[in-house]
Amino acid sequence: MTSDMPFDLTVRNGRISTDTETFEADIGIKDGVIVAIEKNLSPGREDIDAAGRWVLPGGIDSHVHVEQLSGMGVMCADDFHSATVSAVFGGTTTIIPFAAQHRGMKIPEVIADYAKLAREKAVIDYGFHLILANPDETALTVDLPEAIRNGITSLKVYMTYDKLKLDDYQLLDVLELADREGALVMLHAENHDMIRWLAQRLIERGLKAPKFHGVAHDPLAETEATFRAVSLSRLLDVPVLIVHVAGQETVKVIRDARALGAQVHAESCPQYLFLTADDLDQPGLEGAKFCCSPPPRDGASQEAVWEGLKDGTLGVFSSDHAPYRFDKTGKLPKGEQTGFKDMANGVPGIELRMPLLFSEGVMTGRISIEQFVALTSTNHARMYGLAPKKGTIAIGADADLALWNPARETTVTWSMLHDNVGYTPYEGRTLRGWPEVVLSRGRVVVKDNTLNAERGSGRYVPRGKPEPMQRKAAGTSQGALSAWTKGMTA
Ligand code: URP
Ligand code: ZN
Ligand code: ZN
Repeated sequence: MTSDMPFDLTVRNGRISTDTETFEADIGIKDGVIVAIEKNLSPGREDIDAAGRWVLPGGIDSHVHVEQLSGMGVMCADDFHSATVSAVFGGTTTIIPFAAQHRGMKIPEVIADYAKLAREKAVIDYGFHLILANPDETALTVDLPEAIRNGITSLKVYMTYDKLKLDDYQLLDVLELADREGALVMLHAENHDMIRWLAQRLIERGLKAPKFHGVAHDPLAETEATFRAVSLSRLLDVPVLIVHVAGQETVKVIRDARALGAQVHAESCPQYLFLTADDLDQPGLEGAKFCCSPPPRDGASQEAVWEGLKDGTLGVFSSDHAPYRFDKTGKLPKGEQTGFKDMANGVPGIELRMPLLFSEGVMTGRISIEQFVALTSTNHARMYGLAPKKGTIAIGADADLALWNPARETTVTWSMLHDNVGYTPYEGRTLRGWPEVVLSRGRVVVKDNTLNAERGSGRYVPRGKPEPMQRKAAGTSQGALSAWTKGMTA
């Protein structure tokens, strides 16, 4: 960049961190892209003084539910406007929500519907995963290959929920397809029949308060299903990603599988670091605000999740933002009579995901700033085919940046957030550090606690091949069927 080509925007005097290094430099931006990273840049047409600020890649939240019908058929409280506004105020500049197929729905129509909603409302960039409820012949041979070619390079499948659950045979079909087409399979791993059986016994005994959600979703349901998912992945030598890991035994199953060389990746979320089963045990129905699946566990599991995030067993930290209001539309469909089986599962977290981890991870010294960047941004970009344009601060990358003030203390109240949920599970917590200025493709979208972005100004980002699926091209995978047929002759 020469002096006769002024930058559109410069961010100067900040302390920059990527997933591997921290250094002081200025950043020059042109046409939404980072074009210079060096000391003593001349100010651009617009200039931001980042002295005293940590300049980090904007977050990527790769697990959010937006304007989506849940597995129980309940509509989320956030649309693509409120969800993306909330995301960006919390330092996130890209989201990957779900285009959710329910049985009977055609995949191309599902994708077109979500694409329209997001196109009209999103203020930051986005991609989609597909939730796959019906892996029939058309899906496996026509619709999914087409969706993957169009940049939807990851699929979420469920091992529980009546309306979404796939059996093991179907999961193997999906893994084979994913391997062939280069998509990553995300698994919601809980044993459906364990939960169903326990829930039925609890309800027969009149035990239907929110805290019994945690009892029905016993940790063994998560551990068993995770072990099974790992086994299916190993059988065909196809990568998987286990979403929203909650329990300490599950972390161990994943760590052990990875030590054996299994292509198993995993995610955890704020609710498994900062909430426990005790939060579900509150007067009346208040505990419903903390009911998600899997549910938060205990202190030992919180510690195991921290360890997993630190040692790389859990590579991505997402919100699993599943926003449901504390009323008839979400958590309380039967009013005061609502039992744990009736209420929508999920907790909000899109805005607080990064501030919570920054405060309780980085500011306490539990994780390094580089680990924070990896867990909240860079690893998501690599895992889901957004790298190298997203998830880092490098020449040629999109200028998606968050300027964090590490000195700012904020006491969380729902009224300061921008979602449409009406409560936050983190009410009253005091957090250190906040992303005060946020840029999306070089646009200053948040500054002085004010939003400056039009509805629909976010862009769809077609995703490339997820890094775990690139290993095949690199010749390190045996591939689904060859792994299984190895050494066989007629
Ligand atoms: O309870 C949760 N996690 N609800 C959201 C849907 C899902 O399974 O991720
Ligand atoms: Zn799930
Ligand atoms: Zn989810």
